[in-house]
Amino acid sequence: MRSFRSGLQMMVLLPLLSLLLLEWALIGSCSETGGNDEQPLTYSDTYYHGPWIVGRPGRDGAKGEKGDPGEGLRGLQGNPGKVGPPGNPGIQGPPGIKGMKGEPGEMCSSPTKEIHNVTSDLETRLLKVIKALTLYGSMAELGGKFYVTTGQSSDFFTINKTCHEMGGIVATPRNKEENAAIMKLVVRHNTYAFLGLREGIQPGKFYYVDGSPVNYTNWYYGTPDGQGQENCVEMYTDGTWNDKYCYKHRLGICEF
Ligand SMILES: *[C@@H]1O[C@H](CO)[C@@H](O)[C@H](O)[C@H]1NC(C)=O
Ligand SMILES: *[C@@H]1O[C@H](CO)[C@@H](O)[C@H](O)[C@H]1NC(C)=O
Ligand SMILES: *[C@@H]1O[C@H](CO)[C@@H](O)[C@H](O)[C@H]1NC(C)=O
Repeated sequence: MRSFRSGLQMMVLLPLLSLLLLEWALIGSCSETGGNDEQPLTYSDTYYHGPWIVGRPGRDGAKGEKGDPGEGLRGLQGNPGKVGPPGNPGIQGPPGIKGMKGEPGEMCSSPTKEIHNVTSDLETRLLKVIKALTLYGSMAELGGKFYVTTGQSSDFFTINKTCHEMGGIVATPRNKEENAAIMKLVVRHNTYAFLGLREGIQPGKFYYVDGSPVNYTNWYYGTPDGQGQENCVEMYTDGTWNDKYCYKHRLGICEF
């Protein structure tokens, strides 16, 4: 078994030996090439050695052919060297096999559910607003229709204009239920209100503000009695109707 010491000796001796061999080989192959006088001289030009004049050392000759492998004894293998630096990453491999289908995910916040949530939230808030306005006597709701008042009184034309500007019409009861809903506001404010009806050319014949004929009326006994002079309609606090001058001031109620 080769000892560590002898191994180390071999490691030191082998390069030394090869250096020696290289030196001999170079000396042996040296030849005068000449032609280049600028080459700095390292030897004296007048160096005598016996009867022979030793010439200038030549320049390094061309590298000789690689020699045949030697036949001498091979040295013992040295210790393994240090681990080298990591190499470059290799090329990407082919994609792996497709995995199995996963289990269905939980139904969490889907857009529809979120919209539904927002909608129900708005609904809740709207209901609160309706309750508050109803309590305040500003609004009455029936079948999707909203009857709204500011509690102020005006002539019919101002009320009509205001309601149109707000995107509605003057409160127009088209049946008993709607009449009752509007009446709530009249009772609440304890004052008569104008309705969305107007007398036509023919005295005593009334139409809705859009010109369509009425299919429901709730005239107070003996009215209309204006004989074509009172072209507007007011609602009494008992919900009955009476024809009235349009310039009079009555509670304004809009329908949305
Ligand atoms: C829906 O609303 C409720 C209560 O307002 C809330 O707790 C829940 O997180 C909401 N869900 C989504 C998906 O927004
Ligand atoms: C009510 O207002 C609308 C919009 O301003 C108008 O076109 C219409 O003629 C008015 N009706 C009456 C009876 O004043
Ligand atoms: C009159 O017609 C309207 C629809 O144009 C309807 O909503 C209302 O209930 C009707 N009134 C009566 C008393 O039939």
